[in-house]
Amino acid sequence: MKLERIGVIGAGTMGNGIAQVCAVAGLQVVMVDISDEAVQRGVKTLAGSLDRLVKKEKLTAAQKDEALARVQGSTDYAALKDAQIVIEAATENPDLKLRILRQVEAIVGADAVIASNTSSISITQLAAVLDKPERCIGMHFFNPVPLMGLLELIRGLQTSDETHALAAAFAQAVGKTPVTVKNSPGFVVNRILCPMINEAIFVLQEGLATAEDIDAGMKLGCNHPIGPLALADLIGLDTMLSIMEVFHEGFGDPKYRPALLLREMVQAGRLGRKSGRGFYSYD
Ligand SMILES: NC(=O)c1ccc[n+]([C@@H]2O[C@H](COP(=O)([O-])OP(=O)(O)OC[C@H]3O[C@@H](n4cnc5c(N)ncnc54)[C@H](O)[C@@H]3O)[C@@H](O)[C@H]2O)c1
Repeated sequence: MKLERIGVIGAGTMGNGIAQVCAVAGLQVVMVDISDEAVQRGVKTLAGSLDRLVKKEKLTAAQKDEALARVQGSTDYAALKDAQIVIEAATENPDLKLRILRQVEAIVGADAVIASNTSSISITQLAAVLDKPERCIGMHFFNPVPLMGLLELIRGLQTSDETHALAAAFAQAVGKTPVTVKNSPGFVVNRILCPMINEAIFVLQEGLATAEDIDAGMKLGCNHPIGPLALADLIGLDTMLSIMEVFHEGFGDPKYRPALLLREMVQAGRLGRKSGRGFYSYD
């Protein structure tokens, strides 16, 4: 099947990034959100990101215009009718996502793949609400979508080989490298990354070293581009806490318990960059 038309649900941080990479790759893309304001904000962010690519000479002005012309914003799910793949990238809330997936299945064709960009919800659980659960797959993009090379493909218990093959072809078409993993809490990359960050917070909590020294240690000793505490500030400490809670609850294993200091930081409203203060201060 030749890929031509993609649907994206949600015009937020991830949705407009996903729409952008589709459009740049020559695919028609419909981006749906709940309000005109959200759709317009998404399109504006996407256009701004394309402008930056033109400035960096990664795209010509004509290519930017062509890509923009391939993006259609809408508040109407009916616009997803002819999409071959619909990628759900709405707010991280299980009930909302289950509702959206059912709504999408009622509109798209019998062969369409329905994907979710969820970071923490079970793909097997999401697939189970569909009449054809075998058409569901996790497509976990990384932020910022236009810059990050990885696309984690998550196979739920029901995901068919055909669905997986189309998702892998899509990944290649938009210039991402697919890595296929089985459904499990946090999938693979966050399963490894987040407990490492949590461990750095334990180290800080135990007073073994300062935040600056912990980060310098991991940057210089492991060649990480950013220290784990600075990365936690970037991700958002509330997001970090909820991810660790998903692991702790999902596996029932105390090794995933969130550091007490992480919980306290969230209680204090020190959420990282977005609140101006986390392990570091941002003025
Ligand atoms: N931000 C990240 O770094 C990141 C990374 C990987 C995966 N994710 C996942 O991607 C998804 C989206 O995250 P985000 O950071 O883009 O969130 P966001 O808050 O920036 O955007 C979510 C968008 O979904 C829209 N929305 C809510 N209900 C909707 C509905 N019924 N129909 C259509 N749109 C609806 C909202 O209006 C909003 O514009 C989440 O599942 C998140 O876990 C996020």
